[in-house]
Amino acid sequence: MTHSQDNHILVVDDEPAIRELLREFLMGEGYQVDTASNGQDALDLISVKVFDLVITDLAMPRMDGFQLINKALPLQPMLPFIVLSGGDTFENAIRAVHEGAFDFVAKPVRDFPTFKIAVDRGLEHKRLLVSQDNYQRNLESMVREQTKELAEKNLLLEQYTEQLESLSVQVITALMAALEEKDRYTAGHSRRVTHYAVGTARLLGVTEPDIGTLETAGHLHDMGKLMVDLSYVNKPGPLTPDEWEIMKQHPATADRFLAPLPFLTEVRPIIRHHHERLDGSGYPDGLCENEIDILTQILAVADSYDAMTSRRSYREPMSMSEALAELRRFSDLHYEGRIVETLVVFLMKDKDDPNSPIRPD
Ligand SMILES: [Fe+2]
Ligand SMILES: [Fe+2]
Repeated sequence: MTHSQDNHILVVDDEPAIRELLREFLMGEGYQVDTASNGQDALDLISVKVFDLVITDLAMPRMDGFQLINKALPLQPMLPFIVLSGGDTFENAIRAVHEGAFDFVAKPVRDFPTFKIAVDRGLEHKRLLVSQDNYQRNLESMVREQTKELAEKNLLLEQYTEQLESLSVQVITALMAALEEKDRYTAGHSRRVTHYAVGTARLLGVTEPDIGTLETAGHLHDMGKLMVDLSYVNKPGPLTPDEWEIMKQHPATADRFLAPLPFLTEVRPIIRHHHERLDGSGYPDGLCENEIDILTQILAVADSYDAMTSRRSYREPMSMSEALAELRRFSDLHYEGRIVETLVVFLMKDKDDPNSPIRPD
């Protein structure tokens, strides 16, 4: 509820008697009242003080009522003007309303109850405009606040999703490692392959996020073997042609198994193709040369090196130099020569690195 004394009214008229009459009446009604005797003085007041209503004459010296309305509205756009008009200036009053005045009343003012109604309507109009403006500002700040909150929640959700994705990879990796550990011939294979592949990739200038993709592919590359009967893997002696056919399905099996996980979209082709060879002799798709991307080729070289240097139930492991000679023999046939040579550089450094996670048996 607004009290009368909170309302500031400016009365503008060049006739002192009218000014005083209106001032006394309005003050009697409890309003705070300022007066000015011409448009210019009124404008000076409006430029330094907030008013809730202006009651103004039209014909005045120095600055008339029209000019006052034109110049004052840009300063206080919500300020209502009530124009005082004598019978001979009625058309002017209409013009003033067209130019932005809120209302007009007949002059001289004799019907004070009606005058009071016009004043209250003017004040109510200002209150309405102010509350609409406040509502608009609140709404804008609420929208800004909520947009900010939403952006923060989105960020949290993104971080949560990333954590969840990384956790999923960690769980699968741990499961893979645990299953590999059950078999002394495959124990640590994925961990070593990942170490060789990432080390080689870094020397080749591969950067994040590709390193991360390669690392995940390294950990998961043989997970398809979990889905074939492990007795094939452990059996003493080479696999029969039938067993070999089943074993060769492991890259495609892993690819299908991981297909529902959208965050592994870039990892899956590397896993699927880690047994492809440059001359097209690999599996499962018989890809050649440029069809095999660099991350896949790096993983293929690292995987082959670890397979050669690992003990099998039916053969002794090759030494490092024997395995490297074998890889070089197939350089640019099965493996890209540049990658093989970079692996050699990496292994030489890694051999002397006391912090290397891979220690010879
Ligand atoms: Fe494999
Ligand atoms: Fe492997």
